[in-house]
Amino acid sequence: MDIAGITLKNPVMPASGTFGSGQEYSGFMDLNQLGAVVTKGVSLVPWEGNPTPRIMETPSGMINAVGLQNPGIDVFIERDLPFLRQFDTKVFVNVCGSTVADYLEAVERLAGQGIDMLEINISCPNVEHGGIAFGQEPGMVEYITKEIKRKAAQPMSMKLTPNVTDITEIARAAEAGGADALSLINTITGMRIDVKKRAFSVANKTGGLSGPAIKPIALRMVWQTCRAVSIPVIGMGGIQSAEDALEFIMAGAAAVAVGTANFRNPCAMPEIIEGLEKYMEENGIKDLQEIKGIVNRKEK
Ligand SMILES: Cc1cc2nc3c(=O)[nH]c(=O)nc-3n(C[C@H](O)[C@H](O)[C@H](O)COP(=O)(O)O)c2cc1C
Repeated sequence: MDIAGITLKNPVMPASGTFGSGQEYSGFMDLNQLGAVVTKGVSLVPWEGNPTPRIMETPSGMINAVGLQNPGIDVFIERDLPFLRQFDTKVFVNVCGSTVADYLEAVERLAGQGIDMLEINISCPNVEHGGIAFGQEPGMVEYITKEIKRKAAQPMSMKLTPNVTDITEIARAAEAGGADALSLINTITGMRIDVKKRAFSVANKTGGLSGPAIKPIALRMVWQTCRAVSIPVIGMGGIQSAEDALEFIMAGAAAVAVGTANFRNPCAMPEIIEGLEKYMEENGIKDLQEIKGIVNRKEK
């Protein structure tokens, strides 16, 4: 599979924020097996994240309000990148920021660091521009994509929020801004209340819902997006099996990311990779390209 000129040995990678920078999982799997490793979001300066509790289970999923806690780009470059570069897998670095200037400086610092792709998270809350998340307004999406693209040394995928009315409008704006790929979906805003305490379950009140509960919504949005743009899409949202991954590929995704499933089954990704190989063998498929977006080809 090819994404924006980058050849992946297979289309499976972790979803940002559910795999750290791979260290914690390296005891469970050989990281060389993965198509790519996608890091937890990294910002220019360290972010503390939100107060606890910030994670809660839900039926078929979880809510998190971690708040993009990360040690900042200096620690990331010194500590995490050398670890990742040892492996024969592509390195995708997820970048977050509070202001456009923050994103630009972070992206500039990542040039020449042996990174294959940037994934730009434009769904952070509490940002400048009237407090609206960068990823919810098409004009802003196009602007920030264009600005970052000017500085980016690597191809970049814009990570889109599903918390919008029309995902295709946002996707087209990112494409118009020069995005090389799109990653979707991020989490869907949700909430839980602890009835014993008569209070919000997570300190942030609301959080992002992820896991199998969101898969049908994610699949629909990936399908809509793949029809609306001509750049490749990395599909995610509730994927926990090879069959789930195949659904996203048949909807048009060029690759898939596995998030919440990693917490439940740290071997989910190797199992999905094996399942995809088995499916290909059993169905005489040489290249997943043959079934990419196949549901559309069957339409009259
Ligand atoms: C605990 C947690 C942390 C996350 N952190 C990030 C992050 O740092 N950057 C980002 O772009 N997405 C982040 N996400 C969103 C995931 O990458 C993914 O888009 C979302 O969870 C949907 O996939 P899933 O249902 O397979 O988990 C996070 C998700 C979870 C559950």
